[in-house]
Amino acid sequence: MMTLRIGYGEDAHALAAGRLLVIGGVTVTHSPRGALAHSDGDVLLHATADALLSAFALGDIGTYFPPSSPTFKDMDSTEILRAVRDLIIAKVATVRLHNLAAVVTLDTPKLGTLREAIAARLAELLAMPVGDVGITFKTSEGLAPDHIQAAVTLLLSVEK
Ligand code: C5P
Ligand code: MG
Repeated sequence: MMTLRIGYGEDAHALAAGRLLVIGGVTVTHSPRGALAHSDGDVLLHATADALLSAFALGDIGTYFPPSSPTFKDMDSTEILRAVRDLIIAKVATVRLHNLAAVVTLDTPKLGTLREAIAARLAELLAMPVGDVGITFKTSEGLAPDHIQAAVTLLLSVEK
């Protein structure tokens, strides 16, 4: 029998000078600021990892990657997403990802030119077709000019 599951995750970080901005595993070379975080601060990958875990009530990334642990300092978040994906494959028999819908909120710089690259990277990390990965960019209309935020929903199914 096939059961549908929904996953949802969010993440936000403050922006600071002298940091690389990484979104969905893609470095935004035209940004003078990056996320201030313990890891590389990739809000899109963190929200995606939490969305995957939430779909199966498996806690959140802090459960597996405590922010206090020195092991995870400046960690490449693609490793976090890969580890979460492997954990889910190990715990849940047959998982199929149908589509991912994400919103990244950032006032500047504009990200539209990176939409395809970000969607392609996320699709590759999750082994899903790029056409099933929708990325929306929004500004906060000046309400949060020093922050970046991501929200991710996932539709999955499990064969039981
Ligand atoms: O937030 P707002 O509705 O004003 O954003 C207008 C458009 O600007 C978005 O629909 C998106 O295409 C683009 N945008 C972007 N990069 C951002 C924020 C918004 O490309 N960082
Ligand atoms: Mg608007």
